[in-house]
Amino acid sequence: MKEITINPVTRIEGHARVRINLDDSGSVNNAHFEVVELRGFEKFMIGAAVEEAPRITPRICGICPTSHHLASAKACDEIFGAAPPTTGKSLRELLMTGQFIHSHSLHFFMLAAPDFLVGHDAPAAERNVLGLVKKAPDIAKQAIEVRKFGQRLTEAIGGKPIHPSTCIPGGVSHPLSEAKRQELLEMGTKSFEIAKEGWNIAKTMLDQTDLSFGAVETAFMGMSDGGRFSTYDGEVCIVGKDGSPIPAFSGTGYIDHIEEYSEDWSYLKFSRLKGGDYYRVGPLARLNVVKEMGTPEADAALAEYRSTFGEFTQTTLAYNMARYIEFLSCCEKAVEFLSDSSICNDDVRTPVSGVAKSRGVGIVEAPRGTLIHDYTVDEEGFITDCNLIVATCQNNYGMDRGVEDVARKVVSNGTLSESAANRIEMVIRAYDPCISCATHAIGQMPVDIELVRENREWNEGIGKGDLMEYVEADTE
Ligand code: MG
Ligand code: NI
Repeated sequence: MKEITINPVTRIEGHARVRINLDDSGSVNNAHFEVVELRGFEKFMIGAAVEEAPRITPRICGICPTSHHLASAKACDEIFGAAPPTTGKSLRELLMTGQFIHSHSLHFFMLAAPDFLVGHDAPAAERNVLGLVKKAPDIAKQAIEVRKFGQRLTEAIGGKPIHPSTCIPGGVSHPLSEAKRQELLEMGTKSFEIAKEGWNIAKTMLDQTDLSFGAVETAFMGMSDGGRFSTYDGEVCIVGKDGSPIPAFSGTGYIDHIEEYSEDWSYLKFSRLKGGDYYRVGPLARLNVVKEMGTPEADAALAEYRSTFGEFTQTTLAYNMARYIEFLSCCEKAVEFLSDSSICNDDVRTPVSGVAKSRGVGIVEAPRGTLIHDYTVDEEGFITDCNLIVATCQNNYGMDRGVEDVARKVVSNGTLSESAANRIEMVIRAYDPCISCATHAIGQMPVDIELVRENREWNEGIGKGDLMEYVEADTE
């Protein structure tokens, strides 16, 4: 009988662990993806003035603050009965492309690429961004360039590079200046060139990979604007396990379609479709629900992706390639917006008088998937109820079952090699989970992977770093 821990494991946002329970013969009994941070924002938003929500909720996360900012602003538009005018809406959409460019390029170049470009079986000491700089210095440099554009875009429109604050009920607080448009267009054009070139690498990234890892069959959910990829506006579409469409929804309609629930091994909530089917969100899901990306280069990339995976795929590791296509699409879209000088028009905000509706639901697509902010307010606009549904919760089932699938494939006789452990992490990483978002906690720590003998109590007073020593002592 044996227990092993691998520590540390890296390259996701936040703190989680994988626990693999073995039976007496050393085979996998079951495995779970466990999140041990605790959430809090839904509770302490209560009592806040709702117009403050777009400035409070970005603090949930340093990786996806813009998504929270925009979902929150959309909920406020509804409560104040003030839909943004054309340019205000375009600026919000452009701001969201900055979020995607920043987050997706971080994931692709820094978190996922080391597995594919340095190699899944390379020693952990090289399988990281420093290894990438050594092996592919040009790519690493380009990654920095592109992220800079994402950040600058966020700063120029959102007011700050990390926690944007300019989206207010009815639109945005100020127009974009012509000087900033010129600056961003130049940066954006360069980033789009890099993104196009990078597709040649991204499209071959899965060639050497066993695509069966992380297998799980689910439905999928993502926004689409009349069949077109959209991160800011549109209906939320669902396709069943077999790819057949289920009626779409918007606004409070989410309540008729999805429900949240808890499992006792994780503080991270789960969600599923009413009726019991599980679903996934994020890049793989969005490419499964849309017909087109809506821009030429991204559509060409989508056609290549579909020639490999088909119109609809359950392949978990294809998340990586799907994410790249979205990154390409957002660079292309940003250049499109910035090339049109009407983005500097000053119709950026609809005036707001008072509370028009006691409830507002803002839905956007965050880099990791559908994000829902649902606020109820009193007649003065103070929040009395708040529900947030974030992407990582909706992918919790997929990650949890994916982990068990890969554990069964790579654990043999109760042992887990370093490269096998990395296969488990690669499945989690494919989802690009944002634990900070999903639990609204502070802190960034690695994932631990633990193999635990049957009937052993959960923690038994073992410090994480001490487990290996403990295990050795116990097995002698
Ligand atoms: Mg919730
Ligand atoms: Ni986040």
